This record gives sequence, C-alpha cells and structure tokens, in this order.
Amino acid sequence: MARQDPHSYADLDQGRLTEVALFLRVDFAARQLKGRARLTLAEPVSGDLVLDTLDLAIDGISTTEGAPIPFDVSAPDPVLGSRLTLRLPASTSAFDVRYATSPEASALQWLDPSQTAGGVHPYLFSQCQAIHARALVPLQDTPRVRIGLRAEIEVKKPLRVVMAAAADGERPGGDEQHSTWLFHMPQPIPPYLIALAAGNIHPQTVGPRSVVYAEPEVLERAAWEFGGVEDMLQTAEGIFGPYRWERFDLLCMPPSFPYGGMENPRLTFLTPTLLAGDRSQVNVVAHELAHSWTGNLVTNADMEHFWLNEGFTVYAERRILEALEGPEYMALHAAIGRAGLAREMARFGEGSPYTRLRTELDGVDPDEVFSLVPYEKGFLLVQLISETVGRERFDEFLKAYIAEFSFQSITTERWEQFVEAKLPGVLAQIGADRWLRGSSIPENEPTFASRRKELVDELAAAWQSGERPTTEVADAWSPEEWVLYLQGLPGTIERADCEALDTTFGLTAQGNAEILVEWLCLAVRSGHGPAIDRALGFLGEMGRMKYLKPLYTALAASPETKGRARALFEEVRASYHPIAQAVVESVLR
Ligand code: BES
Ligand code: ZN
Repeated sequence: MARQDPHSYADLDQGRLTEVALFLRVDFAARQLKGRARLTLAEPVSGDLVLDTLDLAIDGISTTEGAPIPFDVSAPDPVLGSRLTLRLPASTSAFDVRYATSPEASALQWLDPSQTAGGVHPYLFSQCQAIHARALVPLQDTPRVRIGLRAEIEVKKPLRVVMAAAADGERPGGDEQHSTWLFHMPQPIPPYLIALAAGNIHPQTVGPRSVVYAEPEVLERAAWEFGGVEDMLQTAEGIFGPYRWERFDLLCMPPSFPYGGMENPRLTFLTPTLLAGDRSQVNVVAHELAHSWTGNLVTNADMEHFWLNEGFTVYAERRILEALEGPEYMALHAAIGRAGLAREMARFGEGSPYTRLRTELDGVDPDEVFSLVPYEKGFLLVQLISETVGRERFDEFLKAYIAEFSFQSITTERWEQFVEAKLPGVLAQIGADRWLRGSSIPENEPTFASRRKELVDELAAAWQSGERPTTEVADAWSPEEWVLYLQGLPGTIERADCEALDTTFGLTAQGNAEILVEWLCLAVRSGHGPAIDRALGFLGEMGRMKYLKPLYTALAASPETKGRARALFEEVRASYHPIAQAVVESVLR
C-alpha cells in the first residue's frame, strides 16, 4: 500500500473520489449528524478502497442498488483516526455509506442556546482543516484529492443551514417540524474545505456578490464591519486575476469559533472578535479572500507544504490592503508579523524542525504544531522573491502560477520547479533552500521602512529611560501602531505604570481585540489587577485560539493567577471548541 499524504490512509493508486453527496439530518438533541453519504469515484474500482474516518458510527455500506459491501474499520490512531477498508464489487463507481457522526466529533462544535448571541436556539458549525473532514464523512481526507459536493441537510424549523457551496433553496423535510436545505458545489474542492453551519442564521446583502450571515442580534454590526468586501474583491482581482468562486459570502460565527477566519469557499467563516466597530480588523477578511487564489485554487498537497497556502496568502492579504490603505500598511503589518514570528521561533527553540517551511510531519498532529512560522516566514520568503525580481515581474509570475495550478494541489518541490522555470536563478540567488529547509530566518530577510514604525519603536525602546507616550501622540495611533508599541515594551512593567497607562488610554476597556490581548498579556504578567479580571472575563466570552493561548500562558506564569485560570477553564471548558480545549490543556498542564 502506498500512502501519499502522511495525514491520510488513502492510497490514490486504488482510485479517487470525485464527488461526495451528503444526505444528513442535524440532530441537536443527540448532537449527531445522521444519514447517508453517496461517494462517487472518478473511475470504476474493484477490490480494496481505503478511506479515512474519525469517530464515525458506520451502520452499513452498499452499492447504489442496495447490495451490501463488506468493510472493516481499524482501531483508531490518535492522529489519523480509523482506516475504513471497503471490498468493492467489480467495477464499482459509486456506493452509499449509512452513518452518524460522534457527539464528540472533532470537526464539529455543538452549541447550547446559551452559547449563541440570541440565547434561544442551538447552533452547529464545522471546521475541517487540517484533518477533520474524516470526522464528518468518510472520504480520502487529503488535499491531493478534489471533489464535487452535493448536500441535502435537514434541520428543525426555523433554523437555517448554510454551506460553503451554492445554495439551492429549502424544501419540506421528512416531517412537519423539519426542512431540508439543498446545496451543490460547482467547483472541485479539497476535503478540508467542506463546511456547514446550522442555527438561527440570517443574511444581509453587503455587495453584488456578497451577503453577511449572522444571528439577528449581531447581523447589523457584522454587515457594517464587513461592508467593504466588494472593494476588496475588486482590488484582489486586479492583482491575482478573476475571482473563480462566483460568490463571496461571509458567516459571522458564534464566539467559540476557534480561528480568526476560515477560507471556506464561497462562504468565509469569521470570528465575532473582529467586530471592533471601526473595520480595523478587516485584514482577516482580506486574508480569507486571498485564499480564494492561494489555497483554494492552488492548494498545498498536504500539511507538509502548508506554507504554500499560508505564506502566499499572508503576502496576498498584505498586497490587497496595501492597495486599499497605502504602502505604510504593509510595513506595519509586516512588523507585527515579524515580532510574532520571533516569539514563535523562541517558543520552538533553536533548530526546531517546526521552524522550517517545508516540514516533515509523519506521526505529527498538524493542530499541535500549528504556528505563525508558515505564515510569517512564508510571507518573508515570498516578499524576498518579489523584491529580488521586482514587482512587475513578480506579479506576472503570480498570475502564471495561479493559472498553471488552479484546482490542483502542489508540493514545495513542484513549486520550486515552477519558480525555476519562470524566474530562472532566483531561488539560488536568494538561497531559497535555507529558507525552505533550514530552521532559522536567513540574514537576507526583507525589511520594511516605515516612519511610523520607527517612531513607535523608538518610543517603546525609551520606556526604560522613563519616556511615556503622550495622549497627543498615542491618540493619533492606528490599532497597528498600538500593537507594535505594546509588543516593543519590556515583558513586564511596574504596576504603577500599568495603572497610569490604563487610566490615560483605557486599555483594559479596549474594543479592538488585537490591542486588548497584547495589553492584557503584558498587564497580567505585571500583576495589574483589573487586567487579570478582564483577561478572565474575556476568556469566558470567546474561544479564539489566537487569544486563548497567550492569555492562558500569561496567567499561568504566576501560581496565583494560574489557579484562577484553572478554575475558569474548568467552568468554561465545555464552551470551547474541542481543538481549543486541547490547546488550553497543554498550556495549563
Ligand atoms: N486556514 C486558516 C485557518 C486554519 C489553519 C484552520 C490551519 C485550521 C488549520 C485561515 O486562513 C487563517 O489563517 N486564519 C488566521 C487569519 C490571519 C492569519 C489573518 C486566523 O485564524 O487567525
Ligand atoms: Zn490562512
């Protein structure tokens, strides 16, 4: 048996899935999706076919005529789940799996009404990246495969189902109390982009190709915050070429959504922590939009090449915002990203294999090694190539790259071949191999000149000699400058200084979550009481891992606050996504 992806049991020499059709009922009481999947193969297959599953209860598998197909489910591997082996009759081109998901399915979060904005209806959402699609439906869970998707999802009225797919409306369900929502996906996608949500979800139009979906209680705010999306789409098309997914809708998630955003095609999922009331966090929208080219059109072959998705997308995100907000934007965001990368490198330690771009992840859970490295080191490499060949040539390269590999999955090695063909010599010139396979940041990293960044850096560096920001200066700062300033301060400061900063600038009451969390980490480490209370409060309000990790880490640094953090976690644990629970556990261990 030849496996191609270290995170999948699939052997693509046996055959390839080409379509997944889901016929499922959302059972909130049992916390299960139940029903049937019809899996279609690209070519008829006879004999063994291996699929990925995780925690699925499989009732039976049969041919499309109803004849039983023998199958075997292996004992679960902690990372990969269970291998499902089917013995297909001669020339099988499609088959049906009757199954149910587990109430603990890692791909799903089931929310009680109390965990939603409205407080009345339950809510369900999926998150399949990196390797959780197998907990939703048995399939070849590797991005080397692309599938078409159809779905009929039944849910209790008056709830709505949304999917990352074209919506084909609603029709009566199996009984009076249910209705069925229909979908099909015209573009082939890797399995990790399958996505659905069900709840009291309503749309508001924000552009010719976009609605924002949210619970009614937050819909107005969300629609305003993300109202600039059509401008972004047009700007992005100018840089990367036509948008190939027709619609770009946005789903504002409940607060426990574990990521900032997820690029589910046609329907990006976004955390409500972006709702600052001033559109200051729309870089996350730009990022998920940028994945429509880098990630969703040109896809990493597996998680060992994840930097191809994220490094390119951070670069693309910053290009979109540079075009919309001006050149200083790229510099400020690059600086924030660089500081985050430095922290991440320090956390992994000198020589760690996880500080490489091209990784080797046999036996490694991708959720456990998730970091900023593929994002920010990847960004630096792309930026370096762009600076080396010049932007005009690079933009031409980008368009050719996207055209060449659209709807395909590629490895780092294939990418290197393509770069060599289009931009001969550049990889050698910049020492790309060290960037890709070395575990540090080479000294030829690009730098970004920005007067505003310099001023903030100087002021932060002068902290030790007693200099403080005046209201005159700091009131003119953008959120990015605030984050940079706080990143530049010493790891801990005097309590009296915390109080003074807080009184002057109201940092503990900040509405921008990026500034808030940067501040809270510093102030918690410094023992500032109000920040400790706010940190615990914030950790009870949302479950975005980007914030859980540093805040719990800061609280865990002293025994007293660690005790309070533990007590809080015991209380709110069930409100966090399963993946987020594991992250917090590892911090508090
Ligand atoms: N695709 C990622 C989220 C992800 C990565 C989920 C790996 C599961 C496994 C998404 O595009 C992302 O990177 N989100 C960032 C946004 C940021 C970089 C602007 C986030 O969640 O913070
Ligand atoms: Zn991303």
